[in-house]
Amino acid sequence: MSVILDPEKCNNCGICADVCPVSCIAVDKDTYPYIPEGFEETCTSCGQCEAFCPKGAIICDSGGKYSPYTNIDAPDITAGQLHRFLLNRRPFRNYKKKNVDRETIEKILDTARYAPSAGNEQPVKWIIVTGEEAISEIVEKAIEAMEKAVKKDPESEYAAILRPIKAAYLRGEDLICKSVPHIVIASIPEESPYYDIDSVIALSWFELAAYSHGVGTCWCGLLQTLSNCYEPLRKALAVPDGYKSGCVMMFGYGKYRVRHIPPREMADVKWLGEIQE
Ligand SMILES: Cc1cc2nc3c(=O)[nH]c(=O)nc-3n(C[C@H](O)[C@H](O)[C@H](O)COP(=O)(O)O)c2cc1C
Ligand code: SF4
Ligand code: SF4
Repeated sequence: MSVILDPEKCNNCGICADVCPVSCIAVDKDTYPYIPEGFEETCTSCGQCEAFCPKGAIICDSGGKYSPYTNIDAPDITAGQLHRFLLNRRPFRNYKKKNVDRETIEKILDTARYAPSAGNEQPVKWIIVTGEEAISEIVEKAIEAMEKAVKKDPESEYAAILRPIKAAYLRGEDLICKSVPHIVIASIPEESPYYDIDSVIALSWFELAAYSHGVGTCWCGLLQTLSNCYEPLRKALAVPDGYKSGCVMMFGYGKYRVRHIPPREMADVKWLGEIQE
């Protein structure tokens, strides 16, 4: 990874070096900023130098790997509008029988791909599942996974929910995915605990971006945990080899409109240190 500098524009202010999270930019009064030899691999292509350069003199070079937005238009929403938007988000468990079109899903993903990730690794591989047949297979495999778990341990956490879920399934009702038209999986490589967090953040961004397009979502922890312990379910979710499902979310157009914001606890905060005005 590297950066490309335009010496014509650079005023040698040193901000790029100051903001670099891994201190891999060197700059002094006699030199333009540069990545010293041996530090190329340290650069994570996070683009922080590019983002804060006041002269537009430095570009983070990801080797064409990432597709950029260069425009930094001020956000056109106020803090108050964002506050209300976030508070209006709700989990949706009732969906219209209507698909979200592919263009809208791509727009949502185009926002979600900007979610932060540890070390800027961007480890998420997205999977979008659409259609009754595919989702019905997922539900079937999830029930199988629970049956297996309960058979092995009758005290299993799934013991209480298996019976109503299975009974409903046999009646043609889907209590797991609520007959949703789409499922999104933010799958992640198996090895690092940071990837689990990255998956949560990526889907949080997906959820909010989806809501901004009028699309409702609901986290599905059940599919996540079951798929990581039952291979046929992992396969039904099309999780690539060497990956695990990470977080799973249902999405589609909500059947009902949100009318009120239910109350939540006040923020439980311990303040350490004095805030000087
Ligand atoms: C789980 C997680 C852990 C992180 N830990 C650190 C950290 O310890 N120190 C730090 O400077 N930045 C940390 N970051 C910030 C990332 O380095 C940053 O999000 C990444 O470089 C991508 O840049 P972006 O946030 O501009 O997309 C962390 C981010 C995530 C998601
Ligand atoms: S922040 Fe921009 S202008 Fe300042 S030293 Fe770095 S590249 Fe040059
Ligand atoms: S892209 Fe990020 S890690 Fe690389 S030099 Fe710029 S600020 Fe540092």
